[in-house]
Amino acid sequence: MPYKNYISNSVIRRLPRYYRFLGDLQKEGLTKISSFELSARMKLTASQIRQDLNCFGGFGMQGYGYNVAELRSEIGKIIGVERKIGAILIGAGNLGKAIITYFDFPKYGCELIGIFDNNSDLVDSQIAGVTICHISKLAAFCKKSKPEIAVLCIPKENAGAISEMLVDCGVKAFWNFSHYDINLHFDDIIVENVHMGDSLLTLAYNVNNKNK
Ligand code: NAI
Repeated sequence: MPYKNYISNSVIRRLPRYYRFLGDLQKEGLTKISSFELSARMKLTASQIRQDLNCFGGFGMQGYGYNVAELRSEIGKIIGVERKIGAILIGAGNLGKAIITYFDFPKYGCELIGIFDNNSDLVDSQIAGVTICHISKLAAFCKKSKPEIAVLCIPKENAGAISEMLVDCGVKAFWNFSHYDINLHFDDIIVENVHMGDSLLTLAYNVNNKNK
């Protein structure tokens, strides 16, 4: 169920880390953890964790800490991992293939229901059990299957026209690898940009400026 209260972006950005971290603790066989220990392991303050979780009603008990499985399950519900949002991927090249092969979409609350490319040589082949369709089939597919998310793995030059088509077809959100600024062109569309190059540049800056 969507949250009615405003939740800040920084809290939302921390949720996947809590979720992943608690999953690791579960794998370690931990059933409960004190707020002190959780904060020490995550390098966050206990009050930061409390404040974050209080945005969603608060979890854990004074003097007990957190039940690892319950807290992870609650955070999973907050994120909505169980819903399995229908997603399609556009551009089954090097990057697209790597994403499809690597990401177990259901683990991240999504289901990959279609792959599209404009290269006829790729059409009708399969990646991870999903058949690649020609991009000309996109509108009909969207009308029938109503994907909510598009993963864009096409060159920037082609992303403008394709994102417009996708929005017209009812797509509401983009996991955008294309370097095209979708946000500048559409209101009310949710965009998560991924720029690995920017991340590497940030690392380079920090290495170059350490201890200056
Ligand atoms: P690639 O050339 O191997 O794959 C691109 C695929 O998109 C091809 O299969 C091509 O046929 C398809 N395509 C192009 N225009 C299309 C259209 N209008 N409709 C449907 N399919 C179309 O390229 P690669 O290496 O997979 O990279 C794809 C893009 O991702 C590049 O533009 C690159 O800059 C970007 N990229 C972004 C990264 C990031 O961190 N955001 C990391 C790596 C690449």
